[in-house]
Amino acid sequence: RFEKVWLGAALLLIVGFIATVAYGSVGVGVAMVDDSGGQINAQAVQSGNTGTQFDDPGVVREGEDHYAVYVVARQFQFVPGSGDDPIRVPADAKVTFRVTSADVVHGFAVVETNINTMVIPGQVAEVSARFDEPGTYGLVCHEYCGAAHHTMGGSVEVV
Ligand code: CUA
Repeated sequence: RFEKVWLGAALLLIVGFIATVAYGSVGVGVAMVDDSGGQINAQAVQSGNTGTQFDDPGVVREGEDHYAVYVVARQFQFVPGSGDDPIRVPADAKVTFRVTSADVVHGFAVVETNINTMVIPGQVAEVSARFDEPGTYGLVCHEYCGAAHHTMGGSVEVV
């Protein structure tokens, strides 16, 4: 019957779509991995080991005019970043965000900037930027990560 044909076609489309998305995630994830030991750090987060920057996430001064921000994403917050714990960085300095996930795939995007990356458990996404203008920038999770995904966000205060 016709319905069966359509049902089959629809299923095929859905499977194809999922395969495409899955393949895309893997491809992007690999490209963003920090190969300087990032994998080890992220795994330590998951297994609860101590001794990595992600155990005490936050802003670290890496050099003159260069700051690193270690962020752990988990359902449904960024630490730091969410709630009354905004990420605070200086204007006009190089800022490198290193973001990992303690549970599922999240997104990490700073509104009105080109900072936008996928955050994958067991990996460290790294993206660098320079904020010219002081101000408060919104931070959002842009990958569906569960029931409260739409509430997952925070802010970056550039001072
Ligand atoms: Cu985290 Cu959506």
